[in-house]
Amino acid sequence: MRLQKYLAACGIASRRKCEAYILEGKVEVNGQVVQELGTKVEPGDKVTFGGKEVKLQEEYVYYMLNKPVGYVTTVQDEKQRQTVLDLVKDTKHRVYPVGRLDYNTSGLLLLTNDGELTYGLTHPKHHVNKCYEVKVQGVLSDEAKRALKEGVLIDGKMTYPAKVKVLRKGEKSTVFQLTIHEGRNRQVRKMCEAVGYPVLLLKRVSVGKLTLDDLELGCYRALTEREISYLKQISQNG
Ligand code: URA
Repeated sequence: MRLQKYLAACGIASRRKCEAYILEGKVEVNGQVVQELGTKVEPGDKVTFGGKEVKLQEEYVYYMLNKPVGYVTTVQDEKQRQTVLDLVKDTKHRVYPVGRLDYNTSGLLLLTNDGELTYGLTHPKHHVNKCYEVKVQGVLSDEAKRALKEGVLIDGKMTYPAKVKVLRKGEKSTVFQLTIHEGRNRQVRKMCEAVGYPVLLLKRVSVGKLTLDDLELGCYRALTEREISYLKQISQNG
């Protein structure tokens, strides 16, 4: 991209004004003053204006995906499995998942290119509630329910208190909602196993007050302005 266009795209000024800045010797590329209009900027070049680095302003996008089982949430997979990015093909933006869901977990996954929001939402100090619908093998006992609520030992560390709401008790299985605000590796599966109930199905149904509603499995949608403001707010508290 030509230097004056690049500076304008970075929000410095109009293209004509940027040309003037270049001619005045106010712009450096990779540490060298450049006064020639039309100099090409390549990816990786460091451009400074008045001594400060300028960068392209990326437009932030925010999506909610209903992740199916059978997709990894890493951006690349060494086993060549499908990744959630295969499901968001028709966006020109390079987004990445906020946190992770296991290969065998389905449900609500946020995707964005806003690194600050991702950092805030996944930081444990912000205590963002995540609600999972869990189907376990066996009929959940009151004792196990209490243990899940109070905290259980996984990987040598107690979990924080959680909320448990039983939805259905069958003869051989139980479906309940488990709400946690930590994001430890395979936390829900490990918590259930720790109290003696292997997980059969796991689906994330909400993050904070964002819910999947009628978003179809494998589909995604852009978040509304209101949802984005809400996420920004909860990722900054605390
Ligand atoms: N807890 C798990 O065990 N797996 C997930 O995918 C998310 C939370």
